[in-house]
Amino acid sequence: MATIRIHGGNPLYGDVNISGSKNATLPLLAASLLVKGHTVIENVPRIDDIHAMIAMLRALGAKCDFVQDTTLSIDATAISSVSAPYNLVRKMRGSFYVAGALLGRFGEAEVPLPGGCVIGSRPVDFHIQGFKALGAVVQERHGVMHARADKLTGDHIIMDSRYRSVGATVNIMLAAVLAEGVTVIENASREPEVTCCQHFLREAGADIRGVGTDIIVVRGVDELHDATFYSIPDRMEAGTFLAACGAARGELTVRSVIPSHLTAVLSTLQKAGLTVENGPDWVRIAATGRPRAFEVTTAPYPGFPTDLQPNASVLGAVAVGTSIVHETIFDARFNYVDELNRMGADIQLKDSVAIIRGVPRLSGAPVEATDIRAGSALVLAGLAADGYTEIAGAEFLDRGYDGFADKLRSIGVTITSSREAAHNGSRNVWLR
Ligand code: UD1
Repeated sequence: MATIRIHGGNPLYGDVNISGSKNATLPLLAASLLVKGHTVIENVPRIDDIHAMIAMLRALGAKCDFVQDTTLSIDATAISSVSAPYNLVRKMRGSFYVAGALLGRFGEAEVPLPGGCVIGSRPVDFHIQGFKALGAVVQERHGVMHARADKLTGDHIIMDSRYRSVGATVNIMLAAVLAEGVTVIENASREPEVTCCQHFLREAGADIRGVGTDIIVVRGVDELHDATFYSIPDRMEAGTFLAACGAARGELTVRSVIPSHLTAVLSTLQKAGLTVENGPDWVRIAATGRPRAFEVTTAPYPGFPTDLQPNASVLGAVAVGTSIVHETIFDARFNYVDELNRMGADIQLKDSVAIIRGVPRLSGAPVEATDIRAGSALVLAGLAADGYTEIAGAEFLDRGYDGFADKLRSIGVTITSSREAAHNGSRNVWLR
């Protein structure tokens, strides 16, 4: 298990360049399988989940290489397999996106079911219902989804309006772009990551209307063509740095962002008493004292994102007064709360609501991350805490945050990582 050690208690000052979005770029890589030719994706984050997806594309027969630091070239002309290896799907749920792309291009996909997840139950029943609506015969055998269709035909698919599933919207769209006729997806997700995929598919020749709305109309085309596309900035990474500054104090500018993707996040930061201003591609936050108590409820876009809910709780943990954080998307997304309480936070859980009585200071402690966003919340808590915080399970951060330790160092954080220590042969050197 990788560990990082943070020395907290210092304010953050400076600028951070935000990398490409994990959750937008994963669908783009899957979508490139629909192109019998060459795709170039720019602004690709160098994180473990992207490397796992690259390994997946290669396992299916695509050529896939970084041609520059963040520019990925994919040649999916010759795909040799429609079976996704279990060891890659197991690593990351986002790899299930290859199901829609393989089914759409070859009329066949065999993809292991992604299974449970520490943030709660994450079924793929909406994805499978969508594939069936397009005419696929779907069977689940030995933990693998087998989907086959002689021909996919468009249909009117009404998804469950309570969820507006990101994954199902993308997967059904991928299966539909080469299908015969028109597919309508109602109650679709409007997340910027979904919209990004729609823009990419259109760039490659797909006929998609209703981009960015909850009713998507896909008119099937015969084939897609070569395309070059720039992925969007990671709004979760941007939100993490902004919340970090709110919790640890200081003044920070996140650059290369799309501020409109962060509207709900910025208004929550303002409700917490923080000074926020933005320009066309940057957001600046200033925090001179403790945040004040606030209430926030997670919701599908344009609501407050569930992926930033753990960060919001850290802000509440050091705020003046009692904050309320309500989670509505994933049933087990508060699994970091016990760790925060071990650092001196006062958080009580009542079903899907966290009641957070703010304390003046957290205190550094050894803690363990159980998923990507729980990991980032513990980093934020470490920044706002006295003394040292050691976070085990730091490999989760490598899954989702590009160059996290270096970016934190550039804004004044003292942070050491066992991975770097391992590189010079002295693993966990600071623990002695
Ligand atoms: C994606 C993001 C994740 C984010 C989430 C919600 C990626 C790789 N992951 O996950 O970071 O937290 O969106 O914004 O982009 N559901 C079903 N059946 C299904 C599909 C979903 O019941 O077939 C439910 C889920 O259990 C959950 C809700 O719908 O309660 C939303 O899930 P969904 O939007 O599908 O999340 P993911 O695409 O898995």
